Amino acid sequence: MDQLACRRCHVSAGRGNRLAVSLDSSAARKTAGELVSSIKHPVANMPNFGLAEEQITTLVNSILAGAQGRKTPVTAPVQVHFNTSGKKSVDIFSMKCGSCHRILSERSGALGTGDIGPNLSGILSENYPKTFRNSEVWNRANLKLWLKNPREIRPWARMQPVTLTEKELIELDSIITISSDPNM
Ligand code: HEC
Ligand code: HEC
Repeated sequence: MDQLACRRCHVSAGRGNRLAVSLDSSAARKTAGELVSSIKHPVANMPNFGLAEEQITTLVNSILAGAQGRKTPVTAPVQVHFNTSGKKSVDIFSMKCGSCHRILSERSGALGTGDIGPNLSGILSENYPKTFRNSEVWNRANLKLWLKNPREIRPWARMQPVTLTEKELIELDSIITISSDPNM
């Protein structure tokens, strides 16, 4: 669960981002077989981790153990709304990042359609993998440096620099920020 950073989208054992359904409540509603199947055949906005059967079993056991004795959260479990209107999104993420990335945004729902780059859900939160230079966390300053020139951070990066105006950066920020985050 920690290695794969499931908590960048889900709460499990009471901890994690609330961008997708809480796995503590899923454990109460679903059978183990259904949980396995959701990991094996994920929805479009959950990454496909391509896991072996036994890894999935370990994960489901950890979901069930984490949910033990927990009351199903009383607050609404899912904050993200999905855009089903069929209208094309014109937000900055969809325009500048969405061809290669996806994100679950608290404010704007599921954005992006690309799977070339990693799913960026929860990027500024402590639950996102620490994959910036030297295993540092991603924060606003780091993200800005990355966008300016990914190859300066990772010499082998495939992503090209993306130039954003200050105004666009502020809009991007409001899309990727999670309200429960400390203050990154
Ligand atoms: C980028 C976000 C994201 C990540 C990371 C992620 N998931 Fe999900 N997951 C989702 C979404 C979206 C759904 C569909 C349900 C929803 O809309 O909340 C989902 C559904 C599930 C379900 C089915 C829940 C139910 O009640 O039907 C399980 C089980 C699950 N995920 C497990 C995991 C595990 C285990 C990991 C880590 C290996 C993981 N997820 C990582 C986004 C994510
Ligand atoms: C043309 C495709 C493309 C576009 C557009 C793009 N990226 Fe990327 N991005 C990638 C790829 C591919 C990677 C994987 C790392 C690499 O090889 O560069 C990546 C990696 C990243 C990472 C590193 C994540 C990690 O965990 O390692 C961040 C952060 C990121 N992109 C943010 C953005 C943002 C924000 C935008 C829009 C402003 C954006 N990207 C636009 C292709 C793209």
